[in-house]
Amino acid sequence: MNIATPSSTWSHLIEPGRVHGSLYADSEIFKAELEKIWFRTWVYVGHVSEIPNRNDFIIKSIGPLPVIMVRDRKGEIRLLQNRCPHRGNTVCVTEKGNRSSFTCPYHSWTFANDGRLMGYAFPEGYQGADKSKLGLGQVPRVAIYKGFVFGSMAPEGPSLEEHLGGAADAIDRLCENSPEGEIEVTAGFLHHRTKANWKFILENECDGYHPGFVHASIFSVADSKIGELYGPDSSAVSRDFGNGHTEVDLRPEFRKRDEVLSWFGTTAGKLPDYVSKMEAAYGAEKAREIMIDGTPHIMIFPNLFIAEIQLFVIQPKAVDETIQHVTALQFKGASDFNRRLRQQTMGSVGPAGFLLADDTEMYERNQRGLAMNDPEWLFLERGMHREGHDADGYTIGHSTDDLPSRGIWRHYKSLMEAE
Ligand code: FES
Ligand code: FE
Repeated sequence: MNIATPSSTWSHLIEPGRVHGSLYADSEIFKAELEKIWFRTWVYVGHVSEIPNRNDFIIKSIGPLPVIMVRDRKGEIRLLQNRCPHRGNTVCVTEKGNRSSFTCPYHSWTFANDGRLMGYAFPEGYQGADKSKLGLGQVPRVAIYKGFVFGSMAPEGPSLEEHLGGAADAIDRLCENSPEGEIEVTAGFLHHRTKANWKFILENECDGYHPGFVHASIFSVADSKIGELYGPDSSAVSRDFGNGHTEVDLRPEFRKRDEVLSWFGTTAGKLPDYVSKMEAAYGAEKAREIMIDGTPHIMIFPNLFIAEIQLFVIQPKAVDETIQHVTALQFKGASDFNRRLRQQTMGSVGPAGFLLADDTEMYERNQRGLAMNDPEWLFLERGMHREGHDADGYTIGHSTDDLPSRGIWRHYKSLMEAE
């Protein structure tokens, strides 16, 4: 497919209840996605707690590209492109650390951590060169919501608040689970490489149809009631926030149970320190509500998945290759809760974890299936007849319906059609 084809092309590939298989397998489409989505819209990059001190830095990414997320000498958070203005070398090859400047390994040009070129080796060879034009590239727009740092490679466009829309409320709900109202990303990341297109992962994050089948083994080993949340009789709902953001809202089920921390498979008696801190912070009644509802399950387009107890960052590398960066969520001021969050994360998405390995096997089988061309389309009509609206006007459906995928594709189409 030619990416210069008119925008009507996308109508031929994306219909309300089905999408064409080439969308996951055509490398020209992948190139177009980089241009129209990854290098244009807001992309989640990292969290302020990963660089708490001046001069802290960490390597992150926007799509396949590495960027340096840095807190500069003045304390401002910046996203620098990790490309030397001399010959293009990778300036920073260390994954994280604390540095007031970066020196390129190739010819030793040195840059301040706000991106300015400070000096070059053997400067007498550079008479008349304008240093002010030879700094590191900056990601044009950086914005932070509740500690979540987003970047956009487009100098202009909707604000981060406009992009997040109703999904911002889910981030608020997440942060409320800390007695100090903040999450922290301090547990370290695992990086899982998957031989599948990034959109299979994006869609699966709020696919409430598969857990009872794909994750049956972990639910039975862990004696977990999670499977019931995704059964045909569940009162949980899927929600389309618009702008590609989707959620499976499990609160109706947790409210029926009416037990503090049942969402986390535990009881107040097992986390006494956390419960007393929450009550001190919010008052007994509000703390009880927060601890019954638990944390959200939301996929923020295109790459941030908040999965109740984990945070996933989806990074596309090629049309059929994606990396999932995953860490345990940590809640400020909640050490007993945090220890359990790390343990559960190891069991579910760690190197020998059950949960992510099962999902990954499904993604890779999906991708292999696309090599066959009959049928050409993927079917997304489940629950179309029973879509409704919540009190805020967002489209909702049953937790097992394809409503989140339809929402993702609607937004995807609008981005790909844009000039
Ligand atoms: Fe960086 Fe030459 S490529 S100094
Ligand atoms: Fe899954």
